[in-house]
Amino acid sequence: DRLHAGVMPIYEPGLAELVASNVKAGRLSFSTDLAASIEGAAAIFIAVGTPSRRGDGHADLSFVHAVAEEVAANLKTPTVIVTKSTVPVGTGDEVERIIRASGTAAKFAAVSNPEFLREGAAISDFKRPDRIVIGADDEWARGVMQEVYRPLFLNRAPILFTSRRSAELIKYAANAFLATKITFINEMADLCEKVGADVQDVSRGIGLDNRIGSKFLHAGPGYGGSCFPKDTLALLKTAEDYDSPTRIVEAVVKVNETRKRAMGRKVIDAVTGYYGGGDVRGKRVALLGLTFKPNTDDMRDAPSIAIAQALQDAGAEVVAYDPEGMAMAAPMMPGVIMAKGTYEAIEGADATVLVTEWDAFRALDFARIKTIAKAPVLVDLRNVYDPADVKAHGFSYSSV
Ligand code: UGA
Repeated sequence: DRLHAGVMPIYEPGLAELVASNVKAGRLSFSTDLAASIEGAAAIFIAVGTPSRRGDGHADLSFVHAVAEEVAANLKTPTVIVTKSTVPVGTGDEVERIIRASGTAAKFAAVSNPEFLREGAAISDFKRPDRIVIGADDEWARGVMQEVYRPLFLNRAPILFTSRRSAELIKYAANAFLATKITFINEMADLCEKVGADVQDVSRGIGLDNRIGSKFLHAGPGYGGSCFPKDTLALLKTAEDYDSPTRIVEAVVKVNETRKRAMGRKVIDAVTGYYGGGDVRGKRVALLGLTFKPNTDDMRDAPSIAIAQALQDAGAEVVAYDPEGMAMAAPMMPGVIMAKGTYEAIEGADATVLVTEWDAFRALDFARIKTIAKAPVLVDLRNVYDPADVKAHGFSYSSV
């Protein structure tokens, strides 16, 4: 009903407009009637969530299996069944088995087509992908998929055909590699702080080497979101199941987990450093940005959660503001006061912490902050500002 009314269940820039224009043009419709929806379809995309299974970190495949069963029960014409959800190696085999077990007479193939878009940039990432990966072991299915992606193909997006299992693993390997890159530069940032180097320069200095590449080398409070944390864990489970340890990814997961709370420690040090000792009991800390990255309202595994918790554990009062994430954040951060705006959050604060680099926080009014905050302390966990600039405004500034 909400989709019919044009209400999007998530915040993603441009999504509401895109959905509205395609509904209006008669190219897109929504239904809870699966049988009618799949009738005559050339391809069916399974695009449900695969969250971490409670307790063990395995991907929870119950939604994928449920869709496969419902599709199987209603399949009448030749159809390619495409798994878009992020699923462990071998899931395509299981989807195929489920459909075959239903005894359907219809010709079908189960194909893997992982998605590489980023939240907040989802539409442009989808339209202009670095590559399209299709894991299909069947010639007919490859042809159907090529036709589905023809518009992007005309945009010169490279299309890579692989086996189904390879495609499934490409998705996890890509996310684990990106998580590794981020974690690597985060550890370099820690080393920079110890030896008196600047990680922004180190990042540029290594990123300009084409073999390394400059992207995903931005140091910060640790990666979060609905993908890297759960996908790295799921990859470790697959590695364990197949007795083929991936020790680098194990280290990445551990380092990233401890980093989020360590950022709370960094804030505490900034406050006690400013006041020349003591602790943060009763001190007020303003967090700017709560979502795991800008341009989304997604709070899953956001570093802000661990940071707020660490500060509260140390006795601080935490106030926060996020342009889109507060409704999602409030139930996940008990005791955190949600402010109405940036400066409302900063009012009376002993420290202001830039947690998520929303554009709205990229040009803070330092003069105003100095008049309303209790102390001119800025902790910039995204290295948005130039240290010399902020210090020139009379701030005590720390960054990564
Ligand atoms: C990630 C991948 O980038 C997508 O390619 C993939 O399709 C998606 O997961 C998925 O599996 O669905 P996403 O989680 O939306 O996309 O966001 P990213 O832009 O990758 O950021 C993830 C986290 O890493 C954020 O917390 C971000 O702040 C952090 N990050 C990213 C850094 O700390 N430094 C960087 O240089 C880049």
